[in-house]
Amino acid sequence: MRRAVCPGSFDPATFGHLDIVRRASGLFDEVIVAVGTNVSKNRLFEADERISMMRRACADLPNVSVEGFTGLVTTFCADHDVTAIVKGLRAASDFDYELQMAQMNSSLTGVETVFLPTSPERGFVSSSLVKEVAGFGGDVSAFVPDFVHDALKARLRDR
Ligand code: PNS
Repeated sequence: MRRAVCPGSFDPATFGHLDIVRRASGLFDEVIVAVGTNVSKNRLFEADERISMMRRACADLPNVSVEGFTGLVTTFCADHDVTAIVKGLRAASDFDYELQMAQMNSSLTGVETVFLPTSPERGFVSSSLVKEVAGFGGDVSAFVPDFVHDALKARLRDR
């Protein structure tokens, strides 16, 4: 049984994330999407909202489950018998930090990291840019599922 984890903040879920999760689900027997709940960045959505959005977005992938996690991703991997962490790489600029994290995680527990190149049509999509564009009234409907788009508009309207 090969089990992978796709960790992230998913604030909110984008088609870029879903591209990576979907492709990981074809490579591994099981994939757990691990939604970080104690990461320090300012969040637009609470942890439970991010978890339920990812659950809904991954509902059509039978071997994918979604869980929240706090603390180190390596602890989550050890607790869940995870073979590999899967991360998407959008551009060379992602690589330096992702390499550093992969090497740190490997040196902590030996867990491997597998990098997947983001599909070219999703290479520029990030949660941060989606929030920025939507915050200024731009149309981000091409980059997130419909229900995420609705939640994004509602949250930005309430602010
Ligand atoms: O979507 P993000 O914000 O890029 O996700 C970052 C995340 C949650 C994957 C990363 O911050 C993480 O792994 N946090 C857990 C804490 C941890 O293990 N830190 C050491 C990494 S070497």
